[in-house]
Amino acid sequence: MKEKIYSLTNNKIWLAPLAGITDSAFRTICKECGVDVVVSEMISADGLIYNRERSLKYADFTEFQRPFGIQLFGSDPDKMAKGTEIILEKKPDFIDINMGCPVKKVVNRGAGSALMKVPDIAQKIIFEVKKILKGTKTPLSVKIRSGWDKSNMNAIDFSKKMEDSGADMICIHPRTKSQMFSGKSDWSLIKELKESISIPIIGNGDINSTQDMIDMFEQTKCDSVMVGRGILGKPWMFQVFKEYFRTGKITSTDISTKLNLIKRHFELSIRNKGEKRAIIEMRTHFSYYTKGLKGGAKVRKLINKSLEKNEILNAIELLYLSSHTPKNPTPRTQYQKPNTKNPTPKTQYPTNPL
Ligand SMILES: Cc1cc2nc3c(=O)[nH]c(=O)nc-3n(C[C@H](O)[C@H](O)[C@H](O)COP(=O)(O)O)c2cc1C
Repeated sequence: MKEKIYSLTNNKIWLAPLAGITDSAFRTICKECGVDVVVSEMISADGLIYNRERSLKYADFTEFQRPFGIQLFGSDPDKMAKGTEIILEKKPDFIDINMGCPVKKVVNRGAGSALMKVPDIAQKIIFEVKKILKGTKTPLSVKIRSGWDKSNMNAIDFSKKMEDSGADMICIHPRTKSQMFSGKSDWSLIKELKESISIPIIGNGDINSTQDMIDMFEQTKCDSVMVGRGILGKPWMFQVFKEYFRTGKITSTDISTKLNLIKRHFELSIRNKGEKRAIIEMRTHFSYYTKGLKGGAKVRKLINKSLEKNEILNAIELLYLSSHTPKNPTPRTQYQKPNTKNPTPKTQYPTNPL
């Protein structure tokens, strides 16, 4: 078990669970780009009990995605244990319990970050889930926030309780529930937590570039880092991370790599969900892929109306090609003869830093 936990957390890059976004297709793309560990979108323990087949679908994954964790949410220790028992049929590499979600629908049921207000119940959940995991060598992680609000920042005490109850890893997004996603995440809390408990810590929050990833490791000494929103529209960032680990250099991604990944993401989504549903669900991703590019708004409008796969692909391709072509290519001087023996290849686009 110790080895398994070490292999999940020693200097690793995790993809954050993002409901509605990190589905199987996107996780595969991120794995192909080099991310180490991926987690399912959050799955309701109640859903697993009362709507089993539908809920199990959210836990579908491919062997290629391993190591793969399944995240559960809920508030009742017995139901969380039952949900774990059901989800184990998928044979995940670890189970994660969501104790950080700030969304109303979740906290109103006493789940997600609401559990940070009731450490006794949270402990009972860990205790009951661990009982089910006993014998399967499946580690258990807990994903938390800093606390409920500014006056209740209990992440350190709470994590100690999680550790005492049997949690094997803690992932922390250091914002309070009240902050939702505003302000900056407080990385000093990740450092403090790392110094306070002995199980591995996965640091999360506001990693938007390779330099952020390096800084989080250096500043907090966390065991692994988890990236969420920063990867949206640029899954190739994981390739850049990997290249950095290999060479110590921060590289850039060329346009054909980007285009190939976008096309493959779309193809995978179609394979998993069928063309119509994929086109509709990929709109979120396409809006990230086109964000900040010149002409992006126009293309987004087209994509949001289109139900034609090729129309969407052509629009994306044209947008990428035009926005990565130099605006003012050096004009030929009037008397300069074209070099017909070695013409400049037409498709040479400058590489684009992240
Ligand atoms: C759209 C969206 C969906 C999310 N879904 C989940 C989820 O299902 N489970 C979870 O633990 N956190 C979820 N989160 C929180 C992220 O996993 C992560 O903790 C947070 O976004 C901070 O990391 P980042 O700054 O790298 O994005 C979600 C966040 C967003 C923006």
